[in-house]
Amino acid sequence: MNTQKSLANPSVVIGPNKHLIGGEWADSVGGERITVECPATKAVIAHTPRGTASDVGRAVQAAKRAFEEWRRVPPSERGRALLKIADDIEKGVEELAKIIAHETGNAIRTQARPEAISCAATFRYYGGLATELKGATLPLGEDILSYTRREPLGVVGAIIPWNAPAAIACVKVAPALAAGNSVVLKAAEDAPFAVLWIANICNRHLPAGVLNVLTGYGPECGAALVAHPDIQKMSFTGSTAVGRGIISATADRILPVSLELGGKSPTIVVEDANEEWAVEGVASAMRFTRQSQSCTAGSRLFIHERIYDSFLTKLIALVEQYKIGDPLDEQSDMGSLINKKQFDRVCGYIEDGMSRQEGRLLTGGLPPKSGPLSKGYFTVPTIFANAKNDWRLAREEIFGPVLVAVPWRDESDVVGMANDSHYGLAGFVFSANTARAIRIGHALDAGWIQINQGKGQLMGQPYGGFKESGLGKENALESLLESFTA
Ligand code: NAI
Ligand code: MG
Repeated sequence: MNTQKSLANPSVVIGPNKHLIGGEWADSVGGERITVECPATKAVIAHTPRGTASDVGRAVQAAKRAFEEWRRVPPSERGRALLKIADDIEKGVEELAKIIAHETGNAIRTQARPEAISCAATFRYYGGLATELKGATLPLGEDILSYTRREPLGVVGAIIPWNAPAAIACVKVAPALAAGNSVVLKAAEDAPFAVLWIANICNRHLPAGVLNVLTGYGPECGAALVAHPDIQKMSFTGSTAVGRGIISATADRILPVSLELGGKSPTIVVEDANEEWAVEGVASAMRFTRQSQSCTAGSRLFIHERIYDSFLTKLIALVEQYKIGDPLDEQSDMGSLINKKQFDRVCGYIEDGMSRQEGRLLTGGLPPKSGPLSKGYFTVPTIFANAKNDWRLAREEIFGPVLVAVPWRDESDVVGMANDSHYGLAGFVFSANTARAIRIGHALDAGWIQINQGKGQLMGQPYGGFKESGLGKENALESLLESFTA
């Protein structure tokens, strides 16, 4: 295995920088490579193969061959392999955390380390569930023996984004493998190394070809994977635009597709929740310490008009304390955005908000043009008050730390505004009156609701979006059974 040091920072040991195909580390057929940079410094970390349809072809062939044997491995043995992978990830968790922080820009203490730990938890969870792939006997009469079986689908294609690359890879790979499928996964071009590091561990415990990982660009390598006729299932996390394209591209083949797409999730603060715990929860729901590069970010904040000003004053005081800087520094609360494209996009939204007469910029704004933060794609927590739910900032997924705060008076109005979105991924409600919070939570059209907290997903909670936020569930037994077996 070709472990190496990052060119940008030799204290970070990155894993392999090649495709994993049929158990071997390989360059792309064409020999071309992609440059991966550290978003906090814009320095080059390393290069990875620029995968094309030829590489996809080789990987799918390897996965097809491996599937015939892997599907016959007893589920308890498949589970055991996953548990060993979990143990090895756990042993290397600090190494993995550093890679994640370095390549994504996510701060190590608040984000990258918890993500690395979650990867082991995911393999452990599905390793334990492998023997729950049970069918049923059907009582159709004394002279009929009728039963169902859970069958793996075949070669699963997976395409993942860069915002939580290791966690999202595990959430797809672990249940797919537990169910007896083989996998070809395309990593995100901006953050492939954590995924390759995990693939390297998987390769120690799995037969060759059961897991294959490719690096490459979406329209080239990703699209070729989606188009490959021998893929039996497609699992995707990323933008709604690409998700829609995947449905079109696979419609002729009637391919089962799981999609985890964008969000513009509402956070509703009731008038009795004007306290520190609610402020902390709202900031956490907004994922400020991940630069809000999260599909579940509670990025539309509806605050009851009676507490609107005082709640925002407390929230501003909290977010202005965040230490923004080097993702590898334990003191940093917040790191950088992923790349120039996202940086320019987020700045465009901030400019849009600042140009609106009726809006009020309470904190943040455009990122500094000089000083240490200008060396990377850093942005600062930005809050606009007096926002309207029909602003572009309130309707589109920004994927940056830009929060719009909208006042409300009647419960039915706020529920109406919260649901007035083409997305329906998550929702957050804060109230000292739990019964009221639950009532509001039930009225939200979203796949995943939290009351009085704004935490990340836990294994065992089925997670997935309504409306244009996606199709199918992840993170739970439902994913193993419904997304990866027939
Ligand atoms: P994207 O959807 O373009 O990229 C996600 C993955 O899809 C990457 O691996 C990429 O290579 C691949 N991809 C891109 N085009 C493809 C194609 N035609 N066929 C197959 N695969 C393709 O997302 P991008 O451009 O990185 O971010 C744009 C916006 O998408 C963000 O601002 C955010 O709003 C949203 N997004 C949502 C995520 C989520 O967690 N649901 C994650 C990342 C982005
Ligand atoms: Mg894109």
